[in-house]
Amino acid sequence: MKRTFPSLPLCLLTFLLLSQQCTGIRWLALSQTAQHINKTQHCKTLPGLVSSQAQLCRSNLELMQTIIQAAREVKKVCQKTFTDMRWNCSSIDGPKFLPDLERGTRESAFVYALSAAAISHTIARACTSGDLRLCSCGPIPGEIPEPGYRWGGCADNIHYGLLMGSKFSDAPMKMKKKSGSHANKLMHLHNSEVGRQALRDALVMKCKCHGVSGSCSIRTCWRGLLDLKDIAIDLKTKYLSATKVVHRPMGTRKQLVPKDIDIRPVRENELVYLQSSPDYCMKNDKLGSFGTQDRQCNKTSSGSDSCDLMCCGRGYNPYTERVVERCHCKYHWCCYVTCKKCDKTVEKYVCK
Ligand SMILES: *[C@@H]1O[C@H](CO)[C@@H](O)[C@H](O)[C@H]1NC(C)=O
Ligand SMILES: *[C@@H]1O[C@H](CO)[C@@H](O)[C@H](O)[C@H]1NC(C)=O
Ligand SMILES: *[C@@H]1O[C@H](CO)[C@@H](O)[C@H](O)[C@H]1NC(C)=O
Repeated sequence: MKRTFPSLPLCLLTFLLLSQQCTGIRWLALSQTAQHINKTQHCKTLPGLVSSQAQLCRSNLELMQTIIQAAREVKKVCQKTFTDMRWNCSSIDGPKFLPDLERGTRESAFVYALSAAAISHTIARACTSGDLRLCSCGPIPGEIPEPGYRWGGCADNIHYGLLMGSKFSDAPMKMKKKSGSHANKLMHLHNSEVGRQALRDALVMKCKCHGVSGSCSIRTCWRGLLDLKDIAIDLKTKYLSATKVVHRPMGTRKQLVPKDIDIRPVRENELVYLQSSPDYCMKNDKLGSFGTQDRQCNKTSSGSDSCDLMCCGRGYNPYTERVVERCHCKYHWCCYVTCKKCDKTVEKYVCK
């Protein structure tokens, strides 16, 4: 006899629980996909997609490889940006997303904003590098450049990036089906838009020098995006000053309004959250907190990575580590440097 039947209720339950809570960024589980997506049949094997995302996959296959790359970028950049914080974005390591990203916390606000920025960023860059057939360079700016400057090169196609990126990453929040609360959806949509605004703000003029022996008498310029890590730093500042909101009737509809100062509407450039976060000091699976035991801390820092703050006052243990460094470097005429390798012992600290 086949034994598949008894597992069905569990599977259904898991599905219901997941779709209730964290559908919005489950596409980040794509970071684990090793498969090369080049057949429409592949779309239904991908983890974490809602039906309209799978539909987009089928209708625009070549975009999927870029979206998978975006999911990997989100994970890498999020963890890098938060290495000095108690919450260090390790829960993004799907497919088992932890409650810190499912609930409407400040941390989930950051992850939604970064994810929305990252997907559009990656698509905009892919247009420029010629990885996508359906788009190419962004438009040449309308204004006339200053003397000595001229438009050239290939602009990042932020327009196409925002168009396709938001279509994909907002899809779970725009589903008709009842999945997750209305308040959570509003929160995720708002924070995604904050992420996309941070991306628009990161479109800067980049130039290359021309002219006799690098005299830079002529500069060729285009609009290019800053790296995602710079956008993440901007969003981290917004994370630190995020506003707590409540879901409340405003006029004819329920909207998100700041909890303490509800005389003003939510600003377009501020991240918002519905639920306060735990302090992430102790391990608590239910809240999605890993705790900071065994995390490295910095004894001389006075910031969030200081042993005092990181270890929540529990104290820390020193250990020594041997590192290899370049030393006794010599300059040789002309033109190279030789160095020796030296072993050095450094003292490091981990939280108790
Ligand atoms: C799809 O990708 C796989 C793995 O990279 C490759 O072996 C296969 O030839 C590709 N198929 C098509 C139709 O491009
Ligand atoms: C984040 O912190 C947890 C809990 O201390 C640790 O297990 C994990 O390795 C850290 N992750 C990263 C990416 O530093
Ligand atoms: C520790 O913090 C100090 C002061 O902020 C900084 O100069 C130093 O590079 C940090 N050390 C490590 C190992 O991160």
